[in-house]
Amino acid sequence: MSALIEISHLDKTYVRKPWLWGKPVCHSVLKDINLTLLENQVLGLVGESGCGKSTLCKVLLGIEDITAGTVKINGQNIGTLSRAAWKPLRRQMQVVYQDPYASLDPRMNVRQLVSEPLDIHGLYTDRKKRESFLKELLQSVGLSAAYLDRYPHEFSGGQRQRVAIARALALDPQILIADEPVSALDVSVQAQILNLLKEIKQKRKLSVLFVTHDFAVARFLCDEIAVMYQGKIVERAPAEALFSHPTHSYTRRLLAAVPTVKEDWTAKNNSKPGESI
Ligand SMILES: Nc1ncnc2c1ncn2[C@@H]1O[C@H](COP(=O)(O)OP(=O)(O)OP(=O)(O)O)[C@@H](O)[C@H]1O
Ligand SMILES: [Mg+2]
Repeated sequence: MSALIEISHLDKTYVRKPWLWGKPVCHSVLKDINLTLLENQVLGLVGESGCGKSTLCKVLLGIEDITAGTVKINGQNIGTLSRAAWKPLRRQMQVVYQDPYASLDPRMNVRQLVSEPLDIHGLYTDRKKRESFLKELLQSVGLSAAYLDRYPHEFSGGQRQRVAIARALALDPQILIADEPVSALDVSVQAQILNLLKEIKQKRKLSVLFVTHDFAVARFLCDEIAVMYQGKIVERAPAEALFSHPTHSYTRRLLAAVPTVKEDWTAKNNSKPGESI
């Protein structure tokens, strides 16, 4: 399997001037990150709030620039890419954000939302072909084709996230960056969206960088998991190995902090009648 994303010794520092003549204040957020995303792989990126997960996604998407190190996507060094060279790369790499309320323009209906990337890249210009493509795409994410004329406020949170996923898949990307795509949803809807992502990954042979702070979610979906702590990758391992043999003390602390409903349930069911737990 070849590497679609190769990150080597990546540093990202935010520099802020508190006032015009003041001394610049540096905030080092990503420190010497080395990470690869392979073809047809779901790589989980797990870590506590503020450790730099979204910043890494923004660097990959070209929203934030690189302070030091290199990032190659499909062999292209994004630090040296021109604006024009970014366009085909954007087609290969799409993103789904945490909050579909914020990521979808409320003034656009589903047809417009999902058509926008097609217009930018000049795809499906024939009206009839576009319409049947949009219907198929909507059905592939578990939405009725009749929803094409609906606006974001007319959907539930889970349906809205399905629209966001359809929009991300419209260009048939190779890579999906998913920044906490299920954390704004309730648990039952989370499970539906995770199943959908799993199905899409298998059908489309997508590579996914899946950001989450939820180990259970990462274990369900990811082939491998990288653990980030204060801007550094402290451990990377296949999902099951990470859970059975976490090597870094931070990973062990994080795993120990995960509340396990199942354990309580099992304890309750194993307890003798009348015994309190
Ligand atoms: N534009 C910016 N300027 C300065 N500092 C920033 C900027 N964006 C993010 N940061 C800082 O970078 C750090 C990492 O933020 P980031 O959003 O990447 O965290 P995260 O791991 O995604 O957290 P969460 O799980 O809460 O989403 C934070 O301390 C944040 O304050
Ligand atoms: Mg984040």
